[in-house]
Amino acid sequence: MKIAILGGTGEQGPGLALRWAMAGEEVIIGSRSQERAEKVAAELNAELGQARIRGLENPKAAEAAEIIALTVPYSAHLSTLESVKAQVQGKIFVDVSVPLDPDNPRRMKMPPAGSATEEAQAFLGPETKVVAAFQNVSSHLLRDPQHAVDCDVLVCGNDAEAKKTVMSLVAKMGLHAYDVGPAESARVVEGLTSILIRLNIRYKVKGAGIRLTGLPR
Ligand SMILES: NC(=O)c1ccc[n+]([C@@H]2O[C@H](COP(=O)([O-])OP(=O)(O)OC[C@H]3O[C@@H](n4cnc5c(N)ncnc54)[C@H](OP(=O)(O)O)[C@@H]3O)[C@@H](O)[C@H]2O)c1
Repeated sequence: MKIAILGGTGEQGPGLALRWAMAGEEVIIGSRSQERAEKVAAELNAELGQARIRGLENPKAAEAAEIIALTVPYSAHLSTLESVKAQVQGKIFVDVSVPLDPDNPRRMKMPPAGSATEEAQAFLGPETKVVAAFQNVSSHLLRDPQHAVDCDVLVCGNDAEAKKTVMSLVAKMGLHAYDVGPAESARVVEGLTSILIRLNIRYKVKGAGIRLTGLPR
């Protein structure tokens, strides 16, 4: 499976890239800059000890991949979606974005569509299968491959098959995914991140997460 991570040069993208590459997937780091994408890909390959990750500009990365994940700040959500709209048609699009209030990241500032996920689905159109995942997983935990991540990944979206594919990619990283329903569930899933940020601040930690109970694992 070829997976592109748009905005993969930041905090959240490299951990996803590293863990998917370790699981044998072919990963493409996307960026607004070819140079930055290649630099981060080279750093991650050095850490991996093999060349499974390459770097491309976001539209080229989206074109080359079968699955596209988006890890840019919410302020860049619509502009990045616009830059890859043609390239993601018919594909699975994993939205990791959280619309935090730029003035106070302990609070949400949801878009009129209800959530970033619903906004992406409406903007990209029905041919693209938007799935929300990883909003509640800390970049600090993901980025350290020696660290087993023990939180769960809540996955939602309107296409059942696309969710299954994303859940299998979550499992390949050694994390457990639960299907929490249609795209509108993202209002809650994305919103939980603001609570995790409050918990990180209150308890002086970097990786507060969510773990479900009472369900088969
Ligand atoms: N960090 C976490 O722990 C975490 C956890 C869960 C969810 N998330 C969500 O994941 C998303 C990414 O978070 P992050 O912490 O990785 O963000 P980040 O490090 O601030 O940014 C990620 C990348 O986005 C690109 N970017 C920045 N500003 C942009 C703009 N104006 N237009 C287009 N691209 C821009 C940059 O890549 P280039 O300059 O190379 O293009 C940057 O390296 C956010 O929506 C966040 O809420 C983050």
